[in-house]
Amino acid sequence: MDETAKTADTTTAANTEVRQRVEELRAAVRLHQHRYYVLDDPEISDAEFDALFLELQQLEEAYPELQSEDSPTVRVGGFVSERFERTRHPMPMLSLANAFDLDGLLAWRERVKRLLSEQERDALVYVVEPKFDGLTVVLHYEAGRFVLGATRGDGEYGETITPNLRTVQELPLRVPFATDSELPPPARLVVRGEAYVEKADFEAFNAAQLANDARTFANPRNFAAGSLRQLDSGITARRPVKLWAYQILLAQETGVELTTHSSALDYLRRLGLPVCPLIETFADHDFGDRYFADRNFGTLLAFVNAFRENRHTLPYEVDGLVIKVDSLAQQAELGYTGKDPRWALAYKFAGQEAVTTLTDIVVNVGRTGAITPNAVLEAVQIGGVVVRSATLHNEDYVRDLDIRIGDQVVIKRAGDVIPKVLRPLAEARTGDETVWTMPATCPVCGEPLVRPEGEAATYCENNACPAQLVRKVEYFVGRGAMDVESFGIKQAELFVARGYLHDLADIYNLPWDEILELEGYGERRVENLRTAVEESKTRSPARLLTGLGIRFVGTVVAELLMAHFPSVYALMDASVDELAEIDGIGPKIGQSVADYFSLAPNRKLIEEFAEAGVQLAVPQRASRAEVGAQPFAGLVFVVTGTLAGLTRDEAKEFIESRGGRVTGSVSGKTDYLVAGASPGSKLDKARSLDVPILDEAGLRRLPESLAESQPESLPATESRSASGTETESASDTSA
Ligand code: IVH
Repeated sequence: MDETAKTADTTTAANTEVRQRVEELRAAVRLHQHRYYVLDDPEISDAEFDALFLELQQLEEAYPELQSEDSPTVRVGGFVSERFERTRHPMPMLSLANAFDLDGLLAWRERVKRLLSEQERDALVYVVEPKFDGLTVVLHYEAGRFVLGATRGDGEYGETITPNLRTVQELPLRVPFATDSELPPPARLVVRGEAYVEKADFEAFNAAQLANDARTFANPRNFAAGSLRQLDSGITARRPVKLWAYQILLAQETGVELTTHSSALDYLRRLGLPVCPLIETFADHDFGDRYFADRNFGTLLAFVNAFRENRHTLPYEVDGLVIKVDSLAQQAELGYTGKDPRWALAYKFAGQEAVTTLTDIVVNVGRTGAITPNAVLEAVQIGGVVVRSATLHNEDYVRDLDIRIGDQVVIKRAGDVIPKVLRPLAEARTGDETVWTMPATCPVCGEPLVRPEGEAATYCENNACPAQLVRKVEYFVGRGAMDVESFGIKQAELFVARGYLHDLADIYNLPWDEILELEGYGERRVENLRTAVEESKTRSPARLLTGLGIRFVGTVVAELLMAHFPSVYALMDASVDELAEIDGIGPKIGQSVADYFSLAPNRKLIEEFAEAGVQLAVPQRASRAEVGAQPFAGLVFVVTGTLAGLTRDEAKEFIESRGGRVTGSVSGKTDYLVAGASPGSKLDKARSLDVPILDEAGLRRLPESLAESQPESLPATESRSASGTETESASDTSA
């Protein structure tokens, strides 16, 4: 019998009915959280879920005797006052031997085969898993309840972070999570896993922090670790921490026989723990098992290569693959060397990181005047690219990590982002290193530098600083803004240095005859550049606005603003209040825009653009803001199956940002079902109710076809047109 039931028997208030309802609600909340967070396939709408959750919370508040440690409401997080306690791990938390190339992998395979008896070698199977780049966590369950969670710590003891882990939505507080599971709750279970944060969640968090001048994190890993090592679990609860479980450390009375690692993963999955779906098994060679007919060491290598190629498209960071011997008996036979198991290997992808000497720190002036310290490095190859410099973010980054000139430092290059200095190797110091401090004056214009109260960034506040102008021009002509072909930083530097450019509008008054005289600027080149500059005059006003580089006004905000105003002139005269009221803008951005246009030089700049013939007015069609921005207003969507080009969240975002609503189940109120691959029962239901069905392309085209197929006066809900769907086109209804 469980805890709640026992206490409830002794009270009068908690009559059986309430108790039953509470249990029912807990089971339902658990189920729907699992569907939402782990399976990514919600069955009910957010509002319906919220109602269940609220009812549970209110009952628990009214009947405190029914409170239970493993209620899903406990996840919301409370304050933990004591420092972290230590937890001894049930066995040492080992790490993994690494291989960085095919030779290393083949050598590992040979050793495994050599150490196994001939008989065992015959049925050798490997499990290949992503190597998640997060924070190791150890999760303890007793009698099926989550009772303790810890970090890896020093491998023997970890920090106890139970209340924080309770707030991780994907972590089942009870296993099996489903009340109708055939599995008994295991008497004892200790699981190892990796807590992580998705790349997009990390970026969104940092962007929001930046907008509030608050602390940012260097990478998703640090963000995950920082979020879980909070003393206030209420903070953790607001962070998007996720989890992958990948190893059973200890299991007692599970009711199932676990002889392989893959069966252990299946078991974890059935219990409701999140197990990564990208895990694959391969046989070492053909031993006549039909399942492994086309899964041998050759296909394993092909999988490794494909994974390496595609890893950047995963929503979370991985730094390689882990290859494990599947049979637990074979694992035991192979044993350990020092701190690494012989039965597993981390196959790391070619040098994302490298160590080199930091020879100097110089500062760069950005387009907003922000000063960024940059590391000058002894040249080093990272993943086939020579790296000579790396960003150090800001003054605090250098100070907090105690990075000194002359240090050996770890450099990371991820994808196409700017390389960064991760940390110094303090243990390699000779004593000759010097501590760096932020200079007091701008290295370009000599004006004093300023660090505003509470901000991490230091600024050169001289608007006329030539370094700022170069960066401003670079941004203005760049892809995201006016997109002037073959105009880049080199041209910006040259034209500023020559005195051709004093502000952005001067781009439209360049002395082409003089430029023709410059070295490397032949007739063809100048003509191309001139045409490109000319062409950019017809870019949308939103792009022009983006190019101005107003604080907080990037592409998205610029589009929002220009969907609201007929021209840049109208925007220029808008008050803070007027701006702040626009959906998606708010007071902070509103203030920034109003401040910008309150300055005479900025207003003059717009006049100069006008004189040069740059387009300031929004073309007619796009100014129908309401229709354009909210074409899905009043429409209810259900999304099912896997879409090729959009995740579930992105599809939701696509719909909601256009005014539509997404619910979990198909009903008579559903306007459209968006169906991807393996759509399941929702598709049948939609067909039976005659709900129009869209594929991904149909969804993407829908805003346009809605706009085309109805006269402006018709509310969007009356149009059922959907091109690219299985239903007939409704374009005739609007004729
Ligand atoms: S197995 C005894 N599997 O990598 C073997 N580890 O470099 C235990 N890691 O500290 C590790 N993904 O935190 C294993 N699929 C995976 C992993 C994984 C990430 C981490 C783990 C460990 C580190 C070792």
